[in-house]
Amino acid sequence: MNCIFLNNHEYDIKFIETLIQEFQLNLSLSVIETLDCSNKSLKKVSAFNDNAPLLFFDKQSFILAMVIDNELIKTNLNWQSLQKRIVSSGKNNELLLKACKLSQTMSVIDGTAGFGIDGLILASTGARVTLIEQNPIIFLMLYFEKLKMSQHKNWQKLMDRINIVFGNSNDIINNSIKHDLIYLDPMFPNGSYKGAVNKNMQVLHSMVSPPNSDDELKLFNTAIAKCDKLVIKRPIIAPNFADKSPNQSFNNEVIRFDVYMENNQ
Ligand SMILES: C[S@@+](CC[C@H](N)C(=O)[O-])C[C@H]1O[C@@H](n2cnc3c(N)ncnc32)[C@H](O)[C@@H]1O
Repeated sequence: MNCIFLNNHEYDIKFIETLIQEFQLNLSLSVIETLDCSNKSLKKVSAFNDNAPLLFFDKQSFILAMVIDNELIKTNLNWQSLQKRIVSSGKNNELLLKACKLSQTMSVIDGTAGFGIDGLILASTGARVTLIEQNPIIFLMLYFEKLKMSQHKNWQKLMDRINIVFGNSNDIINNSIKHDLIYLDPMFPNGSYKGAVNKNMQVLHSMVSPPNSDDELKLFNTAIAKCDKLVIKRPIIAPNFADKSPNQSFNNEVIRFDVYMENNQ
């Protein structure tokens, strides 16, 4: 995967290159030395580089910028903004947690990490969560957000329970021990969104395709064999993942969490 890194000297590019090597990220980074990361300039750089994703640092955050339908979309992880959702009062309203019913010390795999939002909510229960991400740019953003948030004293315990792994969860889960819960939030099938899609999802959709039916079946079979409980997030109007009927579903008007128990194969 190609990516343009705009080096505005807010961060040590050597460290990023070391991470690309260390984690064997399939990422080819073209570095552009610049101090100008204005929207106008980002649009220009993008146009010169076949709409490749652009990365740069701004105020200690990794920003991912892309031009989609002629509009510049900028996104970052901003886990700090999840503060309300991960303290005890906020957690009571999380449909995800109602479906997962986690308790402290449980071990969880989030096999489709994305921006790490659901993973963080899962870890807020006291469970240990491994976040697996196959997209090298998203992995880098997750890695840096964890690094950044680990420096905040009141986030340290939560960050200590999170492990971020690069790769395809099908392979990683297949080679792992059994876990209490595996959570999947695969890219939604085209046309299954109800209403507007947020910026993060627009960017993900322009970089990652939804799984085809073979991929779905493979991932479902791998995951169900390696956990006591599998929870899969779906848009409310989407068909069942891998055509498998869940044991239970928790839904609101937009999404549902389908729950599969170990013997549902
Ligand atoms: C819909 S997003 C997940 C959003 C996430 N739940 C959140 O709260 O931010 C799906 C993500 O899973 C990743 N993904 C999809 N299939 C994967 C696989 N087989 N292995 C690892 N990552 C995968 C995609 O690259 C994408 O970043």
